[in-house]
Amino acid sequence: MFTKLLYIETFGCQMNVNDSERIVSMLADLGYAPTNEAAVADMILLNTCSVRGGAEEKVYNRLANLRIYKRDGKQQIIAVGGCVAQQEGEELLRKLPYLDLVIGTHNLHLLPDMVRGAERGERRSETSFIDNDQRLDLFPSIKGESRLSRFVTVMQGCDNFCSYCIVPFVRGREISRRSADILTEVAQLAYEGVREVILLGQNVNSYGLKTVGEPTFPELIRQVAEISGIDRIRFTTSHPKDMSDELIACFGDVPKLAGQIHLPAQSGSDAVLKLMGRGYTRDSYLDKVAKLKSVRPGIVFTGDIIVGFPGETDDDFEATLSLMEEVRYIDLFSFVYSPRPGTKAAELHDDLPKKVKMARLDRLMELQRRHTRDICQPYIGSVVNVLVEGEGKLPGQISGKADIGRIVNFSGDSALIGSFVDVRITKAYPNSLLGERV
Ligand code: 5AD
Ligand code: SF4
Repeated sequence: MFTKLLYIETFGCQMNVNDSERIVSMLADLGYAPTNEAAVADMILLNTCSVRGGAEEKVYNRLANLRIYKRDGKQQIIAVGGCVAQQEGEELLRKLPYLDLVIGTHNLHLLPDMVRGAERGERRSETSFIDNDQRLDLFPSIKGESRLSRFVTVMQGCDNFCSYCIVPFVRGREISRRSADILTEVAQLAYEGVREVILLGQNVNSYGLKTVGEPTFPELIRQVAEISGIDRIRFTTSHPKDMSDELIACFGDVPKLAGQIHLPAQSGSDAVLKLMGRGYTRDSYLDKVAKLKSVRPGIVFTGDIIVGFPGETDDDFEATLSLMEEVRYIDLFSFVYSPRPGTKAAELHDDLPKKVKMARLDRLMELQRRHTRDICQPYIGSVVNVLVEGEGKLPGQISGKADIGRIVNFSGDSALIGSFVDVRITKAYPNSLLGERV
């Protein structure tokens, strides 16, 4: 029975989105129902991200705003989870007297107990990392409402220590979940009516490599593809250095694997890639892209790029633009470099004026808009297969994702929700496609 309301705001990556889902399901057992309105909530939780400085600032501002509700005399639990919580720990409780709970990235299993304590007025922070051998059983399964496309965590953490990145510090060491647990969960999801799974991890390509007797990631994909009812598989995120020939081959002979891959390059310049500690060169990245395009004609790429890394010259930046021209991403997430305390890159001399960085970002985004348009326009007139996931943008429309990952809106009956439908594309927008059922 629900007797209380829970309001969650999620920042950052899919890992956090996934954690928020788990939190909702764990706290449902304590009588908390989700709400979209902070003002009426009995508990407010911010699931935070610290991958770039801006995101962190946002959290502090948001907390400052949210405490208005608490000041109004309402009994309200305020909690911070995710990567800012992991990084700041107790310090957050000290800085913010109205804050009740700080919950680190390895401590979600403690949350019910912490919330019970907070209901009695206890303030608590839990941010210790848990050893890998004890962590395996702490991947709580997601219950919750059955939808058609679900994330399934296959690994957590990261051992790569790219020089700019805070993730290894706030998410801890890499650990792969047991394949038996993953397959059981996927089979259960299929039974509940889920049609698409997105295998999730900071660096899925290194799945299983450090555990004796476990499949590699390509082997895992093939095992997941055996599960009937699951008709589409995606995964994120891939590190290009661990993109093996075996994994590339899956795109050739596992038809359930969707024709889209997120493959963050970060830069197109070998000098910058070296300083970033990425472990691949421009050529080896482009080589993998070419192989993927040849085993799966029509595959589309999305990626991440950081501009203005310390020491990035005009030539380095031009190399990034030319890499974009060669790959031609359908979508690109681009960021201005932001130094993260404790990382190796934070010690590098960073003398590029902000104006230069912003101008580079603008140019890059302009090029990307052109590529998105050039890649999407030719879909007009062609037929794509859409997993219908819900109501569309306008009344009478339904909507879903095409194999290439784009949202497609089209006129149709909501009885089609849950099935795969062929749709002819009639118009391409910057973020979605419009079509009609064939
Ligand atoms: N500054 C800017 N962008 C960053 N990213 C990670 N760390 C930083 C940083 N310090 C970007 C990378 C990564 C994405 C999730 O965020 O591009 O792939
Ligand atoms: Fe960060 Fe690099 Fe690990 Fe990705 S692979 S999470 S960028 S350290």
